[in-house]
Amino acid sequence: MVTWTQMDHGTKADYEMLGKLYTEHTQGELIENMVTLLKIMEGPKMGYQIDRYQHSLQSATRALRANESLDMVVGALLHDIGDPIAPQNHSATAAAMLAPYIDDETHWVIKHHGLFQGYYYFHHMNGDRNARDVHQEHEFYESCVKFCQNYDQNCFDPDYPTLPIEDFIPMMEELFSRESRVPGVAPLGMTADIHIN
Ligand SMILES: [Fe+2]
Ligand SMILES: [Fe+2]
Repeated sequence: MVTWTQMDHGTKADYEMLGKLYTEHTQGELIENMVTLLKIMEGPKMGYQIDRYQHSLQSATRALRANESLDMVVGALLHDIGDPIAPQNHSATAAAMLAPYIDDETHWVIKHHGLFQGYYYFHHMNGDRNARDVHQEHEFYESCVKFCQNYDQNCFDPDYPTLPIEDFIPMMEELFSRESRVPGVAPLGMTADIHIN
């Protein structure tokens, strides 16, 4: 335990000790906490035929069965994880949470999936279903179109044979055990935030 009560009294040794404990603790509970966030969405269907927990599992199951990458499968599982804590900004929130671990393509897809999902319903709400086309020149535009088409807008089916969460835990363990993409900072804990456009 440190002897001080304010950070500007800390030494290199203090921060090495704190960093080690921080990393051990946060890494140790990370997957459990991600699953907890998913399970928070279990229950209320809010007008759909399945809840958002089953929607998330169905998204990941479809991505897995389509032989998508580990990043995309876990990304599909967690693409709506921002919902319970940031309902007005759920795509960007999920993307930011996963940014240290996932590849650029999956990060971009998750960050923009809310806008791209609008293709399926914005026009019913006096909006522009093609609002996504502001990103038409982006290298991951087609990937996000495909994600929403195949792993999101169609994942509300109560009869689809969706895999249970247990099947995805090993994939989450592999993904979240990766070294953070924040070089030289994250291993000390108390990280600077990552920012990827
Ligand atoms: Fe979403
Ligand atoms: Fe979704």
